[in-house]
Amino acid sequence: MASSSSSQPTHILVVGAGAVGCFYASRLHSPERGVLVSLVCRSNYPTIKAKGVHLKTRDFGEYHFTPHRAYGSIAEAAEDGKTLGGWQHVVVTTKALPDQVDDSASIAPLVSEGRTVVSLIQNGVGIEQPHRSRFPSNPVVSCVTVISAEQTSHGQITQNRWTRISLGPYTDGVGDDTSSSLAQRGKEATEQLCSWWSAGGIKDAEPHSEKELQLIRWHKLTINAAFNPSAVLSGGLGNALMVLDEAGELRRHIEGCMAEIFSVGPRVLNVERFPDHLARPEKIVKSTERNDKAAKPSMLLDWEAGRPMELEVILGNPVRIARERGLEMPRLQSMYALLKAAQAQRMARDKESKERARL
Ligand SMILES: NC(=O)c1ccc[n+]([C@@H]2O[C@H](COP(=O)([O-])OP(=O)(O)OC[C@H]3O[C@@H](n4cnc5c(N)ncnc54)[C@H](OP(=O)(O)O)[C@@H]3O)[C@@H](O)[C@H]2O)c1
Repeated sequence: MASSSSSQPTHILVVGAGAVGCFYASRLHSPERGVLVSLVCRSNYPTIKAKGVHLKTRDFGEYHFTPHRAYGSIAEAAEDGKTLGGWQHVVVTTKALPDQVDDSASIAPLVSEGRTVVSLIQNGVGIEQPHRSRFPSNPVVSCVTVISAEQTSHGQITQNRWTRISLGPYTDGVGDDTSSSLAQRGKEATEQLCSWWSAGGIKDAEPHSEKELQLIRWHKLTINAAFNPSAVLSGGLGNALMVLDEAGELRRHIEGCMAEIFSVGPRVLNVERFPDHLARPEKIVKSTERNDKAAKPSMLLDWEAGRPMELEVILGNPVRIARERGLEMPRLQSMYALLKAAQAQRMARDKESKERARL
């Protein structure tokens, strides 16, 4: 792996130029340190190719980011990568939708066997396994971010709050064997990425062991798996309104979901409990009372916009991983079954009406 200290620049490709992708790409890109970040865009390609990315951030003010190169497709980036001797890092920042698309298959043309570091900045659990299986000799770095950011229009990114990004290597998801060469190379890549983000001003870019990082990933479900699906099923209530509901039933439901994650998550990772630095459900619920009442979680925004929801990684994978170990998560399972069915029905209706419109 080339480093910023060698004379050759390090080429990093971020796939998915949305809110998270553009924000973290802009803090990583540093020609003076020899780190050159390019973007694979999709619908926003014409805008970013012509004008770059404009960011309004709480932590770094307003600024412009011109990626080293902007591509309109993975195929185009794969072709250009050949002129660079292959991509050293590929960072995936699309929504994690394994029921719609296998990200590992999509990025395969970008990954040089045994060499390219594949990093994932996405929500949910179990997202790494398809990459681990497809790229058995490549380091995989798993990243969990706590940020509130959005793409308000093509190439316009707003970061509202937070910057935290926690990183760790991924081998088998448990990480008890830290001596293998893959674990070592994953650890080095984790530390290298952290140091680049730190140099780019992200004060809370933190390296972790594989197990610590997976605990952080599972713990984040305490928010994402409890609130996001419930916001959709409650007919569109934001997190604050759910914990403040007068009858108390919604709050009880949210606490029940959180309790399932606190019971199952640590056991999946062969530990007794989540580490003390990770907030307990009571604290999360209490602080949610003070949230903006109009704020909507991303899954609700996706549902309202008719886009696919990150159901598999936030509900389906935890339920399946738990079940493989003989554990059940009944509240998460019910929400998963209901929302999966609702989404499938809506997609079928949309397809039918599009077909009818074509006739
Ligand atoms: N936003 C947040 O505050 C936040 C916070 C924590 C975690 N996360 C997580 O971070 C991940 C990314 O979220 P996000 O909010 O950044 O999503 P986003 O704004 O929707 O960005 C995703 C981007 O990926 C692009 N994309 C999808 N498939 C692609 C492909 N095959 N080739 C090229 N581009 C592709 C999309 O293009 P199109 O626009 O054309 O679809 C979009 O620009 C998710 O897992 C999310 O849950 C987000």
